[in-house]
Amino acid sequence: VPLTQYYVAASLDGYIADPDDGLDWLTRYEGSYEGPGAADDPMAAGGSYEAFYERVGALVSGSATYEWILRHLGEVDEALESGVAWPYAGKPYWVLSSRELPVPEVEGADVRVVDASAEEIHPELARAAGERNIWVVGGGGVASQFAAAGLLDELHLTVVPVVLGAGKPLFAGPLPVMRLRAVTPIHNGMVELRYELAR
Ligand SMILES: NC(=O)c1ccc[n+]([C@@H]2O[C@H](COP(=O)([O-])OP(=O)(O)OC[C@H]3O[C@@H](n4cnc5c(N)ncnc54)[C@H](OP(=O)(O)O)[C@@H]3O)[C@@H](O)[C@H]2O)c1
Repeated sequence: VPLTQYYVAASLDGYIADPDDGLDWLTRYEGSYEGPGAADDPMAAGGSYEAFYERVGALVSGSATYEWILRHLGEVDEALESGVAWPYAGKPYWVLSSRELPVPEVEGADVRVVDASAEEIHPELARAAGERNIWVVGGGGVASQFAAAGLLDELHLTVVPVVLGAGKPLFAGPLPVMRLRAVTPIHNGMVELRYELAR
């Protein structure tokens, strides 16, 4: 049975994007931590993101998250033309939306836009994932839909020591107490927290 994991980075005050869907606070973050047991940057080659991503068999997100990725690809149009690929090549990606959205005509991209609930889509995600896991990419509303349906197994949260004051929340509403499974401080001052959800 695949695990359904919400793998996400949030500011210290619990936002996953600023009010305008910006992620500069994350992508341009610089910091350091010299304390005991500090791990390497999760995004570095051989880091924990790579290990997580290898185990992913299917992805799901809301449309705002998907549109951020499309915009980001748009900014690198030239790079795309010269062969920079879709970041999730070879892994099916479900986008939840009530609208019709473009799908990337890029080598390896497998994007399916669906208007469905977490319950409706989960069996299909699980089938596609097979022995691997399901990555709930975001946002908070989508993660909450899976959690509320009892379909979210884990929260893998990278806390970035930045306070935004406002933005897009990590979750859309209250959830039962989670069980802490692992804590990893990172050399750059972020902390990775792994929680198991009650189902
Ligand atoms: N920090 C991180 O690690 C991280 C991770 C992920 C995302 N992000 C960022 O966080 C922000 C997320 O924003 P968000 O939470 O507002 O958005 P989101 O979850 O990505 O998208 C929300 C939208 O998805 C559609 N949707 C959601 N559930 C649906 C369902 N069951 N059926 C049909 N449509 C559904 C709805 O729009 P429509 O029906 O109008 O399409 C809804 O308004 C983005 O800026 C993203 O880039 C950050």
